[in-house]
Amino acid sequence: MSICFDFETLSERERYKLMIGTVVPRPIALVTTVDEHGRVNAAPFSFFNCLSADPPILALGVENNPDMSFKDTGHNIRMTEVFTVNIVSFAIAEAMHVCGSKYPRGVDELKEAGLTAKPGVKVASPYIAEAPAAFECKRHVTLELGKSRQIIMGEIVYAHYRDGVVDPERLRVDPAQLDAIARLGGDTCSTIRDRFEMLTPKL
Ligand SMILES: Cc1cc2nc3c(=O)[nH]c(=O)nc-3n(C[C@H](O)[C@H](O)[C@H](O)COP(=O)(O)O)c2cc1C
Repeated sequence: MSICFDFETLSERERYKLMIGTVVPRPIALVTTVDEHGRVNAAPFSFFNCLSADPPILALGVENNPDMSFKDTGHNIRMTEVFTVNIVSFAIAEAMHVCGSKYPRGVDELKEAGLTAKPGVKVASPYIAEAPAAFECKRHVTLELGKSRQIIMGEIVYAHYRDGVVDPERLRVDPAQLDAIARLGGDTCSTIRDRFEMLTPKL
């Protein structure tokens, strides 16, 4: 016996529940942007991953608000063409959650969460001083998926790491120092503290 679902007959909510519970763990991007007036915004996105190294492309899956208006992140990237992906460590997990609350446009979630904005080097959006790593991105392409979703791809143009997170000679990122968290289904998150090594067999 197995349990099966016809995705073509499920509701949007049912598909969402199955997908976010099954495609796990999903990394969390705490995305910082600025609007056309230079006001800072921050929000978490777990429909997120890196898709290519040449060119170096990250992708975000951004929903619209229920009334179909753009989330502030989507609006700001549309207006400024840049964004910064900050990796979420366990130490800033609660602050990330504060940034996920529905604040009105123009409210700086970093201030609400007690996080520190540092000026971007190549982009107008700031990076978060407390994040273990941050990628400054220029919008590469936006895919409109249906009427309420966008996949926003950004090209990484600059990277920041906190001291100790990356070996500057070998470019090895230390997962223990990064201490990233990930999202599972529902409200459950996980750490990356249980790890093992696997070598690809040599043929
Ligand atoms: C851990 C976490 C992951 C989230 N992932 C997404 C996501 O992938 N896509 C999305 O549209 N919203 C996601 N959200 C919800 C947004 O963060 C939320 O709607 C936020 O208020 C948007 O803020 P903004 O209007 O400032 O852009 C997530 C929230 C949390 C807490």
